[in-house]
Amino acid sequence: MPVLPEKEGNLSVMKPISRRSIVTGTGASFMALASTASAQQRPAANSAPSGSAVPPPTADQIRRLAWWRAAKYGMFIHYGLYSVYGRQEWAVEKEAIPIPEYEKLTERYHTKPGFATEWAKVAKAAGMRYMVMTAKHHEGFCNFATKLTDYNSVLYGPKRDLVLEYVEAARTAGLRVGARCSLDEAARRRFVDYTHGLIRELLTNYGKIDILWYDGGMPLDVKGWESEKMNKMVFELQPDIIMNNRNHLLGDFSTPEQRIVASGRAWESCMTLNESWGYDSADDEWKSPRTIVRNLITCARGQGNYLLNVGPRGDGVIPEASVRILEEVGKWLANNGKSIYETDPCQPWRPSYASFTRTGNTLYMHIHFWPGEDTSLSGLQAKVRAARFLKSGQAIRFTQDENRTHLTGLPKTAPDSPVTTIILECDAEPRQNLDPELRLAKPRAKVGVSL
Ligand code: GLC
Repeated sequence: MPVLPEKEGNLSVMKPISRRSIVTGTGASFMALASTASAQQRPAANSAPSGSAVPPPTADQIRRLAWWRAAKYGMFIHYGLYSVYGRQEWAVEKEAIPIPEYEKLTERYHTKPGFATEWAKVAKAAGMRYMVMTAKHHEGFCNFATKLTDYNSVLYGPKRDLVLEYVEAARTAGLRVGARCSLDEAARRRFVDYTHGLIRELLTNYGKIDILWYDGGMPLDVKGWESEKMNKMVFELQPDIIMNNRNHLLGDFSTPEQRIVASGRAWESCMTLNESWGYDSADDEWKSPRTIVRNLITCARGQGNYLLNVGPRGDGVIPEASVRILEEVGKWLANNGKSIYETDPCQPWRPSYASFTRTGNTLYMHIHFWPGEDTSLSGLQAKVRAARFLKSGQAIRFTQDENRTHLTGLPKTAPDSPVTTIILECDAEPRQNLDPELRLAKPRAKVGVSL
């Protein structure tokens, strides 16, 4: 998937939603991820910094974002009453389910004991470094103890504070924690107070929270939501938190949805593993482990993060098919993580069956369609000192001139799956000559018309 320049402060991803429309995301942090290289704000690869309107990051943003920039890969979890119904998270709106009927789902909302420990286990095995759970989605049911509504999981359904269990499980596993939590003036006032109040509860009652993942945004604007006041309160409660841009302010990072879009600022692409956010019992349109790995590489190459969604069933269990895919990606990351986490901006992108990431003078070539016994890169400008497989450490023979870096003696079939990583140690930052005119300079005997 190409990394495209993004329109900054992009809110076009938001869909029309009802009054109960904002979802609060809170992230809580438990693992200190050391990151120095990735803590600096740099323009993403392959895209001009698009945000003339976006100010450069402040020193405080750089500080707060450092762990997240290094982390690269997180788990998004859509879990709520809708998971019991099994037709995605918008069902109550999209199927116009009468509220009294929808509320009956609480009678079948039985979340398994230890559900969140299982999530954390799956996330860890997948190589993910943080989790973002829906504390409250658009339909309004709160997965936590709130004094502001009785429409919550402590009074109904599991009769437990699911956010608390989630936060504790993430902390125990050493994962960073995130959560997500129009009209006449009196209604706006009530709803804004209610929403600010829920955010206050989430950021007061659960210890340190790492990420606040707002969602929704409609039908109010920045003034209507009182977003400046909202963010001010958030920082008073959680000085180290980072937040996204979905309350109509820029926040700390952008949130391209179902697309990978690099921008000149911090960004995180959120994406479904099949085609649903909330559990859909019939959706079997799973992305392959190879697609996930390739997407993760694309994000890392563009200096962004990948927030990959799972939709647990009503009992809180992540579907087996999701677990299998995540595990396979996790196994790959266990061997290839060096080429993803804490990587630097990277310029090379050819050939078409491979993609790249970089750390310092080391170029990681990720081959997703194995070409056989040899492979080449065009126009690599740095001198290659050594080539080897990342997984086995085995050396690879190569020759290099200004046009071609040619790797030979490779096995006939791919030595790693779903993607094989080759390390090219260079004498300088590896850059590729991507000038199309390069073709003219390349010797081409008997090709085309020669005079
Ligand atoms: C879409 C969905 C919403 C989901 C969000 C995640 O906007 O409509 O339900 O929470 O994506 O980014």
